[in-house]
Formats: sequence, structure tokens, C-alpha cells
Amino acid sequence: MELLKEKIVIEGKVLSDTVLKVDSFLNLQIDPLLMKEIGEEFANRFKDEVITKVLTIESSGIAPATMLGLTIGAPVVFARKKKSLTLSDNLYTSKVYSFTKKETNEISVSKDFLSPDDNVVIIDDFLANGEAVKGLLDIANQAGCKVVGVGIVIEKGFQDGGKVLRDQGIRVESLAIINSLNNGMVEFV
Ligand code: G4P
Repeated sequence: MELLKEKIVIEGKVLSDTVLKVDSFLNLQIDPLLMKEIGEEFANRFKDEVITKVLTIESSGIAPATMLGLTIGAPVVFARKKKSLTLSDNLYTSKVYSFTKKETNEISVSKDFLSPDDNVVIIDDFLANGEAVKGLLDIANQAGCKVVGVGIVIEKGFQDGGKVLRDQGIRVESLAIINSLNNGMVEFV
């Protein structure tokens, strides 16, 4: 997706050989026009599938997932990383290990909003080692949903999440795939 790649080149900051900062349009501030196009691009990539729910994880997955949901007319269900006051049981949960933060979090989704009748697409902002997506797949599995694929805004192709998922036969659609962040430069696949 050319607009996204331009935005990454112009506004992205390479923090290290493994981390790209995209706070100005994806993580701390959202560019709604770009996000709208991201939603439309995901809808186009998955147009051969009937999608009944979009599944994502807070916080940065919610904006792109919502734009996809808006485009295709499907509700967006999101996993929480912290237990909410009003949500104590009736939950699907899964453990997600973050290599970046070196910690394990329990993520949870309300059982009210996923069912075996659902055809789900999983959306997230970044794909690094794939741990968040694996947690969401686990939850979709517990709910008995069919997962038609995974949509990612920015995949770091030099980390193994994409390969691990594709090797399992999971359809992964990434809108920008980064080959390397070496020497402060963003190189796309
Ligand atoms: P994984 O799920 O693919 O294994 O990723 P990892 O544990 O390494 O990522 C932990 C968090 O860091 C996730 O966000 C993920 O989206 C984000 N992340 C990973 N690599 C990058 C990167 O190069 N740049 C940026 N900007 N983010 C990255 P999170 O902590 O859940 O944050 P949020 O969704 O609440 O914003």
C-alpha cells in the first residue's frame, strides 16, 4: 500500500535495528484518512471472504480494525490486556508473551461477542514475533470461530511472526512489509 509506505518513510523514526516508531499516525496519534484507506485496503484484500466479525487487541489494533468493520459492515471485537471492572467472568483468555517488554499478559475477550457461527478476520497494527496474533487465534479457537485470515498494517519481515503463521497455513495480509531497519533506514520487501 503506497500511501502507507510513504507515510512510514516520511514520518516513521527508526529507533534501532528492530524498532520503528510510528507514533504520529498509528500508535499515539491516528491519521483518520490514512486509517480509512487502510480499512478499505483490508476489505479489498479479503473481499473473497464472508466476514462476520473483526477481532483485534487494544490499543493500536482498534483503529484499523474499526475502519475495516466500517467498510464491510461487521462489528469489531477487541481483546483487553487488563481486566475491566464490569467484565469479571464469561471471558475467553489467552497468555501473550511480549518479546519487546519481556513480560506475559493475559488477554481477554467477552464470550458474548464470538460464537461458532462467526467468520473472523484478525487485525493488528504490527506483526513482530506474532505472539499477539497467536493469542487472538487461540481465543477464536476457544470460541469455535473460523478464522479467514490475519490483516497487519506493518509487518517486520525480519522477525519470524509472519513466517510462523504462514507456515501454519494461515492467510496473512500485510499492507507494508519491512525487510530491514538497519543503519536507520527503512527498507521494504
Ligand atoms: P508480537 O505480538 O508480534 O510478538 O510483538 P511484540 O510482543 O514484540 O510487541 C509488543 C508491542 O509492541 C505490541 O504493541 C506491538 O504492536 C508493538 N511493536 C512491536 N514491534 C514494534 C515496532 O517496531 N514499532 C512499534 N511502534 N510497535 C511495535 P502493544 O504494546 O500491544 O501496544 P499498543 O497496541 O497498546 O499500542
